[in-house]
Amino acid sequence: MSTPAPVRYGIIGAGMMGREHIRNLSLVPGATIAAFSDPDAGQRTQTSQLLQQLWPATPAAVFSDHHALLKEANVDALVIASPNDTHKAILSDIFAQPKALPILVEKPLCTNAQDADALEAAAVHYRAPVWVAMEYRYMLPVAALLDELRLGTAGSMKMFAIREHRYPFLTKVGDWNRFSARTGGTLVEKCCHYFDLMRLVMQIEHKGDEPLRVYASGGADVNHRDESYNGQTPDILDNAFVIVDFASGRRAMLDLCMFAEGSLWQEEMAATGDMAKIESLIPGPARFWPEGGEPASQLVISPRHPKGPIRRELEVDAQILRAGDHHGSTYYQHLGFNKLVRGEGAVVVSISDGLKAVRMGLAAEQSVREKRAIELP
Ligand SMILES: NC(=O)c1ccc[n+]([C@@H]2O[C@H](COP(=O)([O-])OP(=O)(O)OC[C@H]3O[C@@H](n4cnc5c(N)ncnc54)[C@H](O)[C@@H]3O)[C@@H](O)[C@H]2O)c1
Repeated sequence: MSTPAPVRYGIIGAGMMGREHIRNLSLVPGATIAAFSDPDAGQRTQTSQLLQQLWPATPAAVFSDHHALLKEANVDALVIASPNDTHKAILSDIFAQPKALPILVEKPLCTNAQDADALEAAAVHYRAPVWVAMEYRYMLPVAALLDELRLGTAGSMKMFAIREHRYPFLTKVGDWNRFSARTGGTLVEKCCHYFDLMRLVMQIEHKGDEPLRVYASGGADVNHRDESYNGQTPDILDNAFVIVDFASGRRAMLDLCMFAEGSLWQEEMAATGDMAKIESLIPGPARFWPEGGEPASQLVISPRHPKGPIRRELEVDAQILRAGDHHGSTYYQHLGFNKLVRGEGAVVVSISDGLKAVRMGLAAEQSVREKRAIELP
């Protein structure tokens, strides 16, 4: 087999997720980090140390400002992993560069409706591919559930339910994740992943099926109540129920609880059709379990006839598992993005997909505030 062409990456935002991208890229043949930028000196030091371990022979150029990186660095592709409310401005700066580079941008694409509209208009003119990082699509148990739906195992799928019961939001650089103004709100910030999955699942059987309306109830009831930032208590939701009606007449729901880190499964997804229920059961991140204690993810197929669930365990390679918090999905995503940069593949999650997930999250946040169903545009 021939060695793939080398790809030099530039990373914008080198905190927790930026370093997860870097660790996963170190497993992708031919990938190197040519440059990174981060305004925080402590994060620059940590990331430089990681790069020195992973690529001792090819030092990366280090910048405190992404403008300088865009002007001076010699890269083939960009990865954006800065806070949510910086994505729109950084993308606009990249779109304005003379050389159009492929971009992998972390979810959520933006944090409010005005930025979503502006990005939608601006992206039309960009001449290189933009891929939105939606890691959940590539987790083995989620990919297995999607495969079973494509095979028709559930029959005609009618309901898709996602339960996420997990740990509270972690501490971030500059505490950017404590207020909805900077994150878009919990139902945008993290739940855009689930809204993206809902569209993906619904569109297997009905191409072009889109969400029509969102009903949600939620609260900020347990977490971060004793924290104060410039005299303000965090306003981010820590629990919610969200129901989404699709144009096909089918429905999806999310049950979110962020004070349930004792749960065996962090995510439990169930797609139920007229012939069977297909479940995907996913534990929390590997590093939060005692050494060697992480259970394997499971796919469970429960036909109506004959009764008797069929259970399959899905193991991720230990090295890939250790490279991040997402059960290998960041690695599988990078394999696809790397192919795209080398001209061999297509964008899997487009700007349009990323914006739809943001708009569903914004509608859910609005539904919680206004206690009514919100129609999507
Ligand atoms: N896809 C996933 O599963 C997943 C998981 C975690 C985080 N994320 C996303 O990744 C992004 C980063 O999250 P994180 O957990 O790494 O946060 P973090 O706070 O650990 O890191 C963010 C970094 O960006 C830096 N930064 C701020 N402004 C910048 C700018 N203008 N240019 C370059 N760097 C800048 C900060 O100094 C910090 O080091 C967020 O959008 C988050 O939603 C995605």
